[in-house]
Amino acid sequence: MQKIAMLGSGFIGRFYADSLIGQRSKDKIVSIYSRREESARKFAEDYHVGHLTTKMEEAIAHPEVNMVCISLPNHLHEEAVLLCCKHKKAVITTKPLGRNAEEALRMLKAVEEAGIFNGYLEDLVYTPKFIKSLESVKNGAIGRVLWSKSREAHPGPHSDWFWDIEKAGGGCILDLGCHCVEISRNFIGKDIRPVEVMCWADTQVKPIEAEDHAIGLVKYENGAIGQFEVSWTFRGGLDLRDEVMGSEGTIWMNNFLRTGLEMFTTGKGADYVAEKAESNTGWLFPVGDELNDLGYNHMFADMFGAVEEGREPRETFYDGYIVNAILDAAYLSAKTKQWEPVKLSVWRGREGVGKDSHLVAYDEEHYLVKDEVTHYGARKVILKHKTTGKISERVLEQK
Ligand SMILES: NC(=O)c1ccc[n+]([C@@H]2O[C@H](COP(=O)([O-])OP(=O)(O)OC[C@H]3O[C@@H](n4cnc5c(N)ncnc54)[C@H](O)[C@@H]3O)[C@@H](O)[C@H]2O)c1
Repeated sequence: MQKIAMLGSGFIGRFYADSLIGQRSKDKIVSIYSRREESARKFAEDYHVGHLTTKMEEAIAHPEVNMVCISLPNHLHEEAVLLCCKHKKAVITTKPLGRNAEEALRMLKAVEEAGIFNGYLEDLVYTPKFIKSLESVKNGAIGRVLWSKSREAHPGPHSDWFWDIEKAGGGCILDLGCHCVEISRNFIGKDIRPVEVMCWADTQVKPIEAEDHAIGLVKYENGAIGQFEVSWTFRGGLDLRDEVMGSEGTIWMNNFLRTGLEMFTTGKGADYVAEKAESNTGWLFPVGDELNDLGYNHMFADMFGAVEEGREPRETFYDGYIVNAILDAAYLSAKTKQWEPVKLSVWRGREGVGKDSHLVAYDEEHYLVKDEVTHYGARKVILKHKTTGKISERVLEQK
């Protein structure tokens, strides 16, 4: 059983708490740290937490606590992680791990030197749709993964600190791109090295220093490409979509706006619909079970199962560090307008993976380019000669 200190009683802290103590869970939040006593008190009341404090270290050091969950603004992640190392408490932290790769690397080294359990709370690789898709990809259902696109776009975050570049560490690239990059990494293979990044970013709408809209491409050593599309200026709710294209198939996933549940209301008795929904009248797209559909339940089950079974969870601080390094390259590329290398001083995946061959043999002499039945009933193959390179076509059957 995990006895958790929750650091932060805001937006994500409450989502996590709903998941942690929901569904008759055996795990408990035993201490809550918040900046303001009244928020800590409210959280403690809502989630039946016995100990509340406005001192971060007190929550971590609390003798009952065996797991610390960091739900604090980005600039406080490192301080919290170092305190967990000092008190030798297992730690799980929300995304992004650091404001940049340098900070993330310090955290990674600290937890590994302290020998404490560490988990990276990337919920979007734990959604039921994602888990099913990843399983299919791993079983070869779509062949070789060529392109993985992930989009997260919404009208912007809910708290002041996100908009302060010093505290947040960046804009939507860091805040939302971290999800997208990890989704693509999972599909392409976490052991495949991300090589370089090209990124466009701009501040199109908001009066802020950071970017509020960006699109990036992450090239992997095996030739696959990851694409992220992120925005704090999108209107219409929370757009969370992924696409994976493989040599043998395709997966399209819509996690939030069109999930099959559609509802119309005139607004009489209107209520909360879903995270960042911009309207609660008219045609709406509610999410059946946000905690489950956003992956929180499966994520904590993996994290706590891992501690209890003495294994690593699927997402660790190492993954958080790789994500930060990719996003650092994206920020640099947005400035230089060039492909920028992903600089990794720690890499634990495969080395020197070549680009997979895309050639499919048709017969001794030819490669197959295309095999198709046309609307007029002809079965045709397009071929390329293996030595001369000549392209030709053959009609195999004609109705
Ligand atoms: N899907 C996700 O995984 C997801 C979603 C939202 C936020 N997050 C992450 O969770 C973390 C917290 O975000 P949030 O949305 O809960 O923010 P929030 O502003 O809603 O809550 C922040 C909490 O930290 C506390 N805090 C302590 N010291 C603070 C300080 N100096 N400044 C501001 N707050 C302070 C606040 O009291 C509050 O309880 C961030 O790292 C964010 O990126 C993750």
